Order: sequence, then C-alpha cells, then structure tokens
Amino acid sequence: MSADGQSSIDSRNRAFWDELCGTGLAQSLGITEITPESVFHFDEAYMGHYPYLARYLDDLQVEGREVLEIGLGFGTVGQILAQRGARYHGADIAAGPVAMMRDRLRWIGRTDDADAAQASALELPWPDETFDVVVSIGCLHHTGNLPQAVGEVHRILVPGGLAFVMLYNAHSFRQLVVVNRERLRAARAHRSSDERVRAMYDANTAGEAAPHVDFVSRRGVRELFGAFADVSIDSQNFDSLTPSLAGRTLTIRRELLLDNVARVLGLDLYIHARK
Ligand SMILES: C[S@@+](CC[C@H](N)C(=O)[O-])C[C@H]1O[C@@H](n2cnc3c(N)ncnc32)[C@H](O)[C@@H]1O
Repeated sequence: MSADGQSSIDSRNRAFWDELCGTGLAQSLGITEITPESVFHFDEAYMGHYPYLARYLDDLQVEGREVLEIGLGFGTVGQILAQRGARYHGADIAAGPVAMMRDRLRWIGRTDDADAAQASALELPWPDETFDVVVSIGCLHHTGNLPQAVGEVHRILVPGGLAFVMLYNAHSFRQLVVVNRERLRAARAHRSSDERVRAMYDANTAGEAAPHVDFVSRRGVRELFGAFADVSIDSQNFDSLTPSLAGRTLTIRRELLLDNVARVLGLDLYIHARK
C-alpha cells in the first residue's frame, strides 16, 4: 500500500475509533455517564460475553511484568491487567480509548507506574525488546498492514516474551455462510460488499463500518507469526443462529455454541506466540 493509502487509513481509524468500541453495549446497559461504577457494570457484561477471556488473562500471569496492550477500546482488559500488578502500558491510535484508559488507571491508583499513549500499532514508540507480554485483542486487523503490525509486536518483545493476539477468522461460520451469501448478492447487483461485511464486525452507533478489516486463516496466522519460535491458535466466539425449520424460525443462542462449533468455525482466532 502507498504511504498516502496508509495515512488515509490511519486518519480514518483515528476518527472512527474515537467513539469507544463497546459504546453500543454501554448504551444497551443504560450507561449514560462514565464513572468507576458504570464502567464496572460494563466490564461485567463484556467479560460475560467472552467467557473464555478470563482464563486466557489468568494464564498470562502478568504480575510484575512489563505488559503492553495495543488497541484499548473501552479498557476492560487493560484495567484487569493493571489490577493484576502488570507494569501496564497501553497504545491506541485514537484519543478516546487513551483518555478512557488514563481515567481507569487513575481510578485504581496506577498513574505512577502505568500509562497509555496515543500511538499506531504500525509504529510503536518503544525500543526493541521492551515488553515481556503484548496483548492485542481485535486491533491489528484494523491497521491496514498486518505484517508490519505483527513485526512491531515481535520487535518490542524480549526474547522469550509472549504475544497474545486476537484476529478475525477468515474461515469462520460467519465468513463461510453469511459473508459469502452477502458477497454473492452484491456481485449479482453489481455493487461492492466490502462496507456491509466490515459493518457485520465493527460498526459505530451511527451504523458506519470500521474503515479497514482484514480476515486471516490459521495458515495465514502461521505465516504472519513466522518469526516467532512457538505459535498456537484457538478458535472462539460465535453468533446466535436462527435457522428456519418447517416454516418456523428457531433461535440457537450463541452460549450453546461456544464450547463446540465455535472451537472450529469461531469468529475469532486467539493466538499465543512466543518469541
Ligand atoms: C475493535 S476495538 C477493540 C478494543 C478492545 N481491545 C476490545 O477488545 O474491546 C479496536 C481498537 O483498536 C484501535 N486501533 C485501530 N487501529 C489502530 C492502529 N493502527 N494502532 C493502534 N490502535 C488501533 C482502535 O482505536 C480501537 O480502540
């Protein structure tokens, strides 16, 4: 991609993500004001929606370690890492998530030894081999340059350091069925499906799609993380299903699908990569 193309994605990301990712969820919970209490309520709902996250975060064992989170959103994961005693640093391209994370760090009394910076995942403002752990959930696929973003994660990790990264699965059930159906319809109507597909994954409260999204297969992950010594990949997360049967529409709630089909055709790939 040209430098102009990248800087256009960067500036659109900076504007789009200034509305905190998760604002729709906050509104659905009746949150109108950001306070430690309302944010606690949000965090409970967020962690309840992704029940596997708690175990992943436990397993990272971040206490006393230099940890960088890239892509902060509403800040749930960052606050958990900081509260667990990580020497926490956050980076996000947009001002809104950085301000939210600074508020959270202040609320938990961690402004002396923890911080959040407005910075792009493509040019992280830290020297080589700074961090023991890098956490990035649902962010790097928005940057417009996944190889460079993963290269930055590798650069700033110490030898033996761990990257914990979530990227969207190119071979999820949603991709194979819903996205392909949308692409077929769009092709028949001679229109582009890109924006609608992006909006299926990330839309703001005005219904606008995120500026850029990449989807990655397991093989793609292995290529992207080829410089790492050890890589493992888990599939997680699923949509509720509403199949029609004999003229009736059934709803199969996503909670029932998380421990089985989501582990194969899930929306998200959770990657552990050891440098
Ligand atoms: C979908 S949200 C995920 C937020 C959070 N990790 C979560 O799981 O709720 C994506 C986040 O990545 C950030 N982001 C997008 N492009 C970025 C870039 N090039 N560099 C750093 N952060 C970026 C956005 O500002 C946003 O906060």
